[in-house]
Amino acid sequence: MKHDIVEKNVGLMIVLVLVAMSFGGLAQILPLFFIKSTTTPIEGLKPLPALVLEGRDIYIREGCHVCHTQMVRPFRSETERYGHYTVAGEQVYEHPFLWGSKRTGPDLARVGERYSDEWHRAHLYNPRDVVPVSNMPAFPWLFHNIVSGEDTAAKMTALRKVGVPYTDSDIAKAAEPFAEGKVKEVDALVAYLQQLGTLIKQKR
Ligand code: HEC
Repeated sequence: MKHDIVEKNVGLMIVLVLVAMSFGGLAQILPLFFIKSTTTPIEGLKPLPALVLEGRDIYIREGCHVCHTQMVRPFRSETERYGHYTVAGEQVYEHPFLWGSKRTGPDLARVGERYSDEWHRAHLYNPRDVVPVSNMPAFPWLFHNIVSGEDTAAKMTALRKVGVPYTDSDIAKAAEPFAEGKVKEVDALVAYLQQLGTLIKQKR
């Protein structure tokens, strides 16, 4: 029997098993690239403006995504608390995505406009000042560090290469908001937080 050859040869068996499995994988993964709802930006989605983009990078640098997810799952317990569940079309310009996996703190996917800028500043300066039981770390250096903006244009250019539709004029003006050297890191981070998830109306 020909099948004997496969069964008695581990190397060949491994190769054939991998081939069989990859067909299964492709059947699941390939369609995702072509389903419109996963690849089309939702209405109103725009590439992040320079200030917000810098804020996002500070969010990543400080490891906010290690304690906070940005992914409201379609469960009642989450939609009641945070608002509309996260949809793929909101995420098409996210590189890298910040869905996260550990929820030490609340999900932040829809935190935009939920608190005032002042609340965020107080909270980032020392979370215990506004939430006495908080175990979130304080980030006081964000109030001293200045955002230079010298890399913003390069970041936009890189993002454009992976499909984020920044225009030439966006890139040319990327450093403008930072020109006077007065933008603190906290300003950029709060600008980033305040727009999170605001394109889809919140339920609460
Ligand atoms: C060690 C884990 C940890 C890290 C790191 C962390 N947080 Fe938090 N965060 C928490 C916890 C716990 C809470 C809930 C208590 C509170 O509100 O302070 C929270 C709450 C928040 C809230 C309020 C959310 C809500 O819906 O009430 C915001 C906004 C927030 N964090 C932003 C940030 C940002 C921005 C960073 C990065 C600069 C960050 N966090 C880093 C743990 C963390």
